[in-house]
Amino acid sequence: MKLIDSTRDLFRRDHVFDFMIPGAARDHILDTTHGPILYLDNVTVSFDGFKALNDLSLYVDQGELRCIIGPNGAGKTTMMDVITGKTRPDKGDVYYGQQINLLRLDEPEIARLGIGRKFQKPTVFEHHSVFENLELAMHTNKDVWHTLFARPTGEQRDTIEQVMTDIGLIDYSGQRAGVLSHGQKQWLEIGMLLMQDPLVLLLDEPVAGMTQQEIEHTANLLVSLAGKHSVVVVEHDMAFVRSIARRVTVLHEGRVLAEGSMDDIQNNPNVIEVYLGEQPDAPDHSTESVLRRESYALGR
Ligand SMILES: Nc1ncnc2c1ncn2[C@@H]1O[C@H](COP(=O)(O)OP(=O)(O)OP(=O)(O)O)[C@@H](O)[C@H]1O
Ligand SMILES: [Mg+2]
Repeated sequence: MKLIDSTRDLFRRDHVFDFMIPGAARDHILDTTHGPILYLDNVTVSFDGFKALNDLSLYVDQGELRCIIGPNGAGKTTMMDVITGKTRPDKGDVYYGQQINLLRLDEPEIARLGIGRKFQKPTVFEHHSVFENLELAMHTNKDVWHTLFARPTGEQRDTIEQVMTDIGLIDYSGQRAGVLSHGQKQWLEIGMLLMQDPLVLLLDEPVAGMTQQEIEHTANLLVSLAGKHSVVVVEHDMAFVRSIARRVTVLHEGRVLAEGSMDDIQNNPNVIEVYLGEQPDAPDHSTESVLRRESYALGR
């Protein structure tokens, strides 16, 4: 690994990770004793007059594993953009716990408070090993030189090893991230988020492009993370959603169309209509079938 490659990797990475406040302090200011960990109320986002989110109200409980589905353009990614401070709504309230108004904070501040986000494309440091990627994600020191040359303490090594075990990459510790499979890179990136011990994990289409085996591994991983973390997963792959689903929210035209168990969703007439509207020639009109076709339409 050349130093120039490492440095370039560090500056190229497109999400922020070199910030962290002690977990105890963060948990202290987050009050979820009487309510959800994420609270979006009547949120509207307009792009040139088009409402990507239209009075969206959505609540996520602490430790919950929530799946969000919905047709293309429903506003799923925009919703994550609002939670993470990337996009400001025209109106509405967005709270983290009861006290923290996320609309008053910028992206790094929101991430520092324990809301971690994974984009679809993995952005690991290709020239670094799996271990080094996790080590880099742990560092709070913004000094690049310190980050590159500081040695992890015994405790830090234990944490990294635990995360490598959790994400299924313990046997790849010394492997350069650039040669990992697409699925392994996705898990590594989830591991990098875990190094910051987030309270909320937002995952946008985490299994897109994965093999069936990788999808199953990801399902187990996300189920194991729920409880300790609140996990919000946006996915089009309905077989995957079904395999992990607890409460499912269907977004359509910027608002919640339906919410409930996967069975509730599939039997909801409004959901059936929305998905059928996209599949006018569908010979089999059961929602299960239409939702399955949506997965196929996306190449899986
Ligand atoms: N920056 C932007 N400028 C203009 N329009 C935008 C912008 N971002 C999103 N949109 C529009 O807002 C709508 C919602 O987009 P969004 O990306 O949130 O949908 P999505 O539910 O994530 O869809 P997909 O399943 O295809 O990822 C779409 O019509 C999209 O074209
Ligand atoms: Mg999207």
